[in-house]
Amino acid sequence: MRINLSSPDIDQSDIDAVVAVLKTPTLSLGPKLPEFEEKLAAVAGVKHAVAVNSGTSALHCIIRGLGFGPGDEVITTPFSFVASANCILFEQARPVFVDIDPLDYNIDVARLEAAITPRTKAILAVDVFGRPARLDLIEKIAARHNLRLIEDSCEALGSTYQGRPAGSFGSAGAFAFYPNKQMTTGEGGMVVTNDAALADLCRSYRNQGRGSGGAWLAHERLGYNFRLSDINCALGITQLARLDEFIAKRAAVAARYDRLLAGQSDVFTPAPYAAGRLSWFVYVIRLADRFTQADRDTVLEHLRQKGIGCNNYFSPIHLQPFYGELLGTKEGDFPVTERVAARTIALPFYNNLPESAQQDVVAELRAALARRG
Ligand SMILES: Cc1ncc(COP(=O)(O)O)c(C=O)c1O
Repeated sequence: MRINLSSPDIDQSDIDAVVAVLKTPTLSLGPKLPEFEEKLAAVAGVKHAVAVNSGTSALHCIIRGLGFGPGDEVITTPFSFVASANCILFEQARPVFVDIDPLDYNIDVARLEAAITPRTKAILAVDVFGRPARLDLIEKIAARHNLRLIEDSCEALGSTYQGRPAGSFGSAGAFAFYPNKQMTTGEGGMVVTNDAALADLCRSYRNQGRGSGGAWLAHERLGYNFRLSDINCALGITQLARLDEFIAKRAAVAARYDRLLAGQSDVFTPAPYAAGRLSWFVYVIRLADRFTQADRDTVLEHLRQKGIGCNNYFSPIHLQPFYGELLGTKEGDFPVTERVAARTIALPFYNNLPESAQQDVVAELRAALARRG
C-alpha cells in the first residue's frame, strides 16, 4: 500500500524501553507489568487494571469473572468488531443484539429495554470507533433492571463521556493495544475495574488459574495463558506517556478530513462529538443511501488499486455465518446496522498521516464516486 490504513507511532523512547527489558532476566511477569497497569488505571480513572495479551482476552476475562454462562443473555451491538460478541459465546452465554443509532453508530438506547428478558444478565456497550456509547443512559437502564454493565472500550482509550473516562463505566471495561489502536503494545489488552475481587479473578485467569502469591504449580481454577510480557508492557508505558500527543494528532488528522470532505454531499463524515473528549480510533465515512453495498465495494476496490488502504468497518456481527448457525440471526434483523455497514469506508488514519496523503485519498474517493455518477 502507498498509504496505509493504519500505522503505529513508534519513537526512540519506545525502542529504548523495549531494548532495556531485553537486557534483563525478567522478560515476563517482571516490574513493567505492574507499572503499566498502574499507569493505565490512572488514565482510565479506575482502581485496578489487569494487563492481558489482547482486548479479546480482556473481554473474555470479564465475562468469565462475572460468572455468565449457559442460559444467560448479554445485550450488545451487532455493529462492532466480532470479539465484542464472541467473548459472550466463549462462556456459552447468548449475545442478544440491539440495533444502532444511525448518527453515532452506537447501540440505540431507545431500543435497549425492549431486549431485556428474565435471562438478561448484562449490557455490553461498545464505544464504537472511539466514540463512547450513551453511557449515562445505559448505566441508568442497567441499574433499573439490576444488570451488570460492561464497557468494551477497546477502541476508545482516552475518550471521555460527561467528564468520565471511557472504560470506567459499569463493572469493568476492556482496552486493546493492537498496532491500529491509538497506542500499541504490539498485541495486548487491559481489564479495568473498581472491583478488587474481579481484578483478582482476571489476574488468575490470565496466569493459568494461579492464585496470588501461590506456588507456580498451584492452580486454583481453570485459567488461560493470557499474560502480557514485560517487553510489551515496557512499550505500553512509553506509548501511554505520549497518549495525549497521539490523541491531539489524530484529532488534527480527522479535522483535516472533515475539511477536505466538506461539501461532498454524497458522503457523511463522522458526527460531531459533544459529550467530552473524543479519542479517534478510525475515520469512517458513510456513503449516501442511494449507493448500494456493491457501489461501496467498488469504491473500496478503486482505492486499493490506487494503493490506498481502506476497509468496510464493520461487517455486522449477526451476519457472520457462524452467528447465523448458532443464533439464527439473518439479514433484515437489524436494518440500521445493515444500512450503515453496507456504506461505510474507513479511510487511512494514523497519527503522522501527511496532509498530502489525505488530499490524495479524498481525490481518489471523489474520482471513484464520480465514476458511479
Ligand atoms: C470493539 C473491539 N472489541 C474488541 C477488540 C479485540 O481486541 P484485540 O484485537 O486486541 O483482541 C477490538 C479490536 O480490534 C475492538 O475493536
